[in-house]
Amino acid sequence: MNTPKIRVGVIGAGNVGSAFVELLSDESRHVALVDAAMATLEVVAVAVRDPKKLRPGIAPNLLSSDALALANREDIDVLVELSGGVDPARTYVEAALSRGVSVVTANKALMAECGTELAELANKNGADLFYEAAVGGGIPILRSLRTSLAGERIERVMGIVNGTTNFILSKMTSEGSDYAVALAEAQALGYAEADPSADVDAFDAAAKVQILSSLAFGTELRGEQIAREGITGVRAIDVDFARRNGYVIKLVGVAERVGEYGLSRRAHPAMIPLEHPLASVHGAMNAVFVEGTKSGPLMWLGQGAGGEPTATAVLGDVLYVARNRVSGRHDVPFSVDDRLVSVEAGDIRSVFYISLDVMDEPGVLASVASVFGSHGVSIQSMEQSGVGDEARLSFLTHEALTKNVRATIAALANLAAVDSIGACIRVIDKGAP
Ligand SMILES: NC(=O)c1ccc[n+]([C@@H]2O[C@H](COP(=O)([O-])OP(=O)(O)OC[C@H]3O[C@@H](n4cnc5c(N)ncnc54)[C@H](OP(=O)(O)O)[C@@H]3O)[C@@H](O)[C@H]2O)c1
Repeated sequence: MNTPKIRVGVIGAGNVGSAFVELLSDESRHVALVDAAMATLEVVAVAVRDPKKLRPGIAPNLLSSDALALANREDIDVLVELSGGVDPARTYVEAALSRGVSVVTANKALMAECGTELAELANKNGADLFYEAAVGGGIPILRSLRTSLAGERIERVMGIVNGTTNFILSKMTSEGSDYAVALAEAQALGYAEADPSADVDAFDAAAKVQILSSLAFGTELRGEQIAREGITGVRAIDVDFARRNGYVIKLVGVAERVGEYGLSRRAHPAMIPLEHPLASVHGAMNAVFVEGTKSGPLMWLGQGAGGEPTATAVLGDVLYVARNRVSGRHDVPFSVDDRLVSVEAGDIRSVFYISLDVMDEPGVLASVASVFGSHGVSIQSMEQSGVGDEARLSFLTHEALTKNVRATIAALANLAAVDSIGACIRVIDKGAP
């Protein structure tokens, strides 16, 4: 019997694209790949911005700069989009899907912005749309949610899904460094961009939360803004407070049920108890922690970025597309649950860590405590430190409504005895799963 051939067009040969072409062309893996794909895979074209640049492992005659022409080629079965960004990547993906050509992408920004629309286009035209590498790089979390956990009622997905911020916060924790020092080191080592905003302001983590949520709960991907707080305000003294109290500060992305049909999605720093599995995820590693009603807690851990780890996830998707093509079928990318209602971050209950720089004089503690009390926020513990200009009060609250805590902070900022609000960070309760 003749082995069918699946022709692959690739847009982008940067970190991920070049590693992907190399993996797919690895002679030592040929038999295993043919087995997995039920077909022979061949890269027939690669589009890049600069086709004159030498690209080891890619034959120069495959290179062009016209990505749209590549997406429209009659002879490709799969388009692999690894150029990044929403536009013009969206145009290329739409061109392929509207002709029934399956698409594999690693592009979280594109999926978070218009994943629902692209999924509908894929489904209408009998094509696959896979994007495993868009969350957690080489960690196979998306297909696990879509297939192995398809029958499970998921209560919460919580992940460390941004390696740059995890590297920065890990440095601050292990070396006691300030945010600016840890960021500079991340930049020098290539873990952070010159403009780090996408990572440190949590845009990247928020896009990934949306993608995880669409698969875990059935929310749509239409570029909705979700609650987002970055790590730029986290100070060495906050990291130290966390350590002394049995916590570590991480940037987490969370999607969780609130009641039967409520859903909260958000990305923010949080103090995680040292005994929680996510607390031991260090450096640039990523992890996703899932709580299912029947499965209990589950966790995936691995390289959230890097050309080769990410390319393994892309290749896995391409093999899946090939098998579907050979069998004459396609997958529905995700299903939408219309009953879900978005719950505002202010309506979520949490324990909080609050740190205030205060005047060093009698009566300050009493006036601060009365502001907490008048907003219905009760104090679990308090620490007084420093003298003179360095005087500081640090609190752990009991569980309270986020909007009440925000109102407390606003009132404290107006109190004459409070010089400035140093920090207000959510705390994952030690009793929580
Ligand atoms: N890097 C990671 O660790 C990682 C992890 C997970 C997901 N991802 C995602 O994977 C995708 C690729 O990331 P990357 O790190 O490989 O990016 P990259 O190194 O910047 O590579 C981008 C590639 O796309 C090409 N390109 C850009 N715009 C193009 C256009 N309009 N037409 C044709 N080619 C174009 C570039 O061409 P030139 O080479 O000529 O400039 C380059 O080869 C992104 O969506 C990213 O979010 C990356």
